[in-house]
Formats: sequence, structure tokens, C-alpha cells
Amino acid sequence: MSLIARERPEPAALPGDLATAIERARPALGGFAAQLFYVPTVGSTNDEAARLAEAGAPEGTVVVADQQSAGRGRLGRAWFSPPGAGLYVSVIFRPHRGLAAAARLPTLPAVLTLVSGVALAEAVRETTGLPVVIKWPNDLVHDGRKLAGILAEGSAQGRALEHVILGFGINVRSVTYPPQVAARASSLETELGRPVDRHTLLVRCLMKLARIRVALGSGEIAPMLQRWRDLSPSAAGARVAWRGPHGLRRGWTVGLDDDGALLVDVGGSVERVLAGEIRWE
Ligand code: BTN
Repeated sequence: MSLIARERPEPAALPGDLATAIERARPALGGFAAQLFYVPTVGSTNDEAARLAEAGAPEGTVVVADQQSAGRGRLGRAWFSPPGAGLYVSVIFRPHRGLAAAARLPTLPAVLTLVSGVALAEAVRETTGLPVVIKWPNDLVHDGRKLAGILAEGSAQGRALEHVILGFGINVRSVTYPPQVAARASSLETELGRPVDRHTLLVRCLMKLARIRVALGSGEIAPMLQRWRDLSPSAAGARVAWRGPHGLRRGWTVGLDDDGALLVDVGGSVERVLAGEIRWE
């Protein structure tokens, strides 16, 4: 295995406690984090991971940064990534490799991003005891405030999916958020009122992601989606609004479809929401 302090974008020593924690977790990590690139500061860990994936880095390769200068969120938003305040991590997945033909679902990337939310929620719950829940598609929330998010970016060769970069950001320390998110964002330490060890949490996240990869490979998708439903109370009975192809829609959530679509009852007929912004009312 190689734990590499990268020369690009900036040389850095890998934090000793992180190396020790990864070593200790090795049996539960499978091939995950066999290559872990630590960078003190980077534009976006997703971009670094994509560059590595294009250059042939194997599944499970991880990029971790202490700070991002151009962290990205879903729907073109910025992800606030000040130094030392959170986990900013990207993992290379090659979800169609090693799968039986029957499991080569076109919806696999969507399912991967959903069940990654389960992995992170469980990692946070087990490491900190904070009962975070998932808000569709994969935000981690506590008391109505967002603590973590996932940005999955795929690359295809023709019709074949090459890789998915699964980027996640977890707010750990208490910081002052930019005004546009301050009312909706929080951090683990703010919610808990005590310190959280970032590296212990990171290793637990990687262990959980390694486990869902194994489960996906053996086609155990239904139990993982069920776990998503269990962790996502707002996926049923919540009032939502969104802009669909036919304008503004409004209804009540009634569950999650097997391909990851949110199901919404709009005046008695069920509509599927696959992407885009949902307003929770
Ligand atoms: C969201 O909008 O909820 C998704 C946020 C994802 C942020 C993470 S931080 C690590 C990785 N690199 C990025 O630029 N974005 C993701």
C-alpha cells in the first residue's frame, strides 16, 4: 500500500495519526485507501481524483484535503471548505467493474450516490452518536440543519461508465458560514457541543464505503435502499415543491423508487423526481 504526500498541488506530510488509523483499519478497508493522497490545499478534491482516475488509478483511491479553494456542491453551488474545519474527501469508484451482467444497472451511479449517503450517515452515527438523518438525495441533516453533502461526478467512454468520483464534505468544526447558507448549515461539533476526531471519522466513512461497494458488487441493492428509507424520515409525508418540465409542482413525499427517484403524490397521482432542487416546505 502507499500513503502518499503528493507533490501536486503542494507537498505535504501525511498526518501521522491518519496513517496509523488507516493502517489499523486495513482489514476492513479491502482495497479502499490503498492509495491515499493527502493535500493540505487544493481547488477541489473531486478534480484531483478525476485526474488520478483518468491516469488509471484503481477503485478505492482516495484524495483528502485540509482545505479547498474551489469546493463544489450539487447544482453548481460552492462548498464552503475552510482549513481544518471539515472533511473534504473524494473516492474513485468503478461501479460497473466486477459486476455480474444482471447487476449492470443503468441506474447504478444513482444508486451508488444514494447508498453512499447511508454509509456516511452510519459512519457519523457510530463515531459521534449524533442521530443524523438523510434528506433526499443524500444530505446529512440534524435538527433541520445540513452537516454533510455528497457530489458524485461520473465519466463515461461512449455508453460505458468509466468511473464515478464520489466526493463528500462533512462540516466538523464550528465555523462562521457564508450568509447564503448560514441559516441552514451546521457542524458536528456545534450540534454535539464537544470535539470530534476528524481522522477517526474519515476512516469510519471509508470503511462504510468499502462495505457498500462489496454489497453493490454482489447485487444486494434492495436492503441498502431499505436502509436509506429507514434513515430518511422526510422521504414520506413531507411537503415538497420543485420545478419540473411542466412548471412548479407541489405535493407530499411518498417514498423512494428502486432507481433512486423520490416519489411525490401530486393531487392523487405519483410523480418521480430524479434530479434537481427540491424545496422542503
Ligand atoms: C452538496 O452540495 O451537498 C455536495 C457537497 C460535496 C462537497 C464535497 S467536499 C469534497 C468534494 N470536492 C468537492 O469539490 N466537492 C465534494
